[in-house]
Amino acid sequence: MTEKRPRVGVTRRLPARVEAALAERFDVVLPDTQRALDANELLALMHDCDALLPTVTDRIDAALIGAAGARCKLLANFGVGVNHIDLDAATRAGIAVTNTPDVLTDDTADLTMALMLAVMRRTGEGERAVRAGAWEGWHPTQFLGRRLSGKTLGIVGLGRIGRAVAHRAEHGFGMKVLAWSRSRRRGSEAGTRIERVSRLEQLLEASDVVSVHCPLVPTTRHLIGAAQFRQMKRDAVLINTSRGPVVDEAALVEALETEMIAGAGLDVYEQEPRVHPGLPGRDDVVLLPHLGSATVETREAMGFKALDNLVAHFTGRELPDRVN
Ligand code: DGY
Repeated sequence: MTEKRPRVGVTRRLPARVEAALAERFDVVLPDTQRALDANELLALMHDCDALLPTVTDRIDAALIGAAGARCKLLANFGVGVNHIDLDAATRAGIAVTNTPDVLTDDTADLTMALMLAVMRRTGEGERAVRAGAWEGWHPTQFLGRRLSGKTLGIVGLGRIGRAVAHRAEHGFGMKVLAWSRSRRRGSEAGTRIERVSRLEQLLEASDVVSVHCPLVPTTRHLIGAAQFRQMKRDAVLINTSRGPVVDEAALVEALETEMIAGAGLDVYEQEPRVHPGLPGRDDVVLLPHLGSATVETREAMGFKALDNLVAHFTGRELPDRVN
């Protein structure tokens, strides 16, 4: 008789190597669609499976957890951010939640630098002109942007990704790096030239580029809003590769329209995949579709990290990346 294998519900199609590795260990239920599952479909999957492998597009709130029954005991999230999962409700229901830290740090930091360069050097605007056949050839004052090297970068949220961005900015671009985080420590960071400031306002007033790297929790929702844009330099730019709701998008549009700041580079949005209607028509913004961790290497590594957590759960070992 063959042993019954744990049943794992996967909410989105994953890189082929990850799906194959999951299928070697588990009875895997894969979606037959490329779209995100709705609440009813998620509920059915949780009812039917011993563990779920969800992603950022799955809203797993208290109502869903409450209705899901007792079978599913692990949410092995594919991604580091877990703001789409109600962790307290999961804990109350005896469901463990894990994430995939570290493996996406470098790629997300790289993409943050790409956004900084794109906004400062106007690459989106230039590329659109070439594609539209609107480029009439080189001339000395065309598409003049601003130099990134040597400028001051303000990092909001000095976790793994914030530090990796700071490292690139300091060592690759000779930038001065300031950092603020909710832990509010002051002084310089050991082994780096990062200067911690105690008030967010100090960072906003001094930075040419402000880059957001904090998780989305109740205290960081709209952390960057109208008051913060007023504190930024008029020629500063905002970069967000963390979570959309950390920035008040309506206030951002207003700040751009009134030239309170000079530009923005966004990879994340308040209501993904919807983008505030005031953004797409602007040449001073660069808009990416949540690409931070989108490399083959990282997406495979994220899948294997979720797999490690699933294996640990079903073999009774401590979960390597438990977040609740
Ligand atoms: C993450 O890991 O949080 C990415 O944003 C994808 O979910």
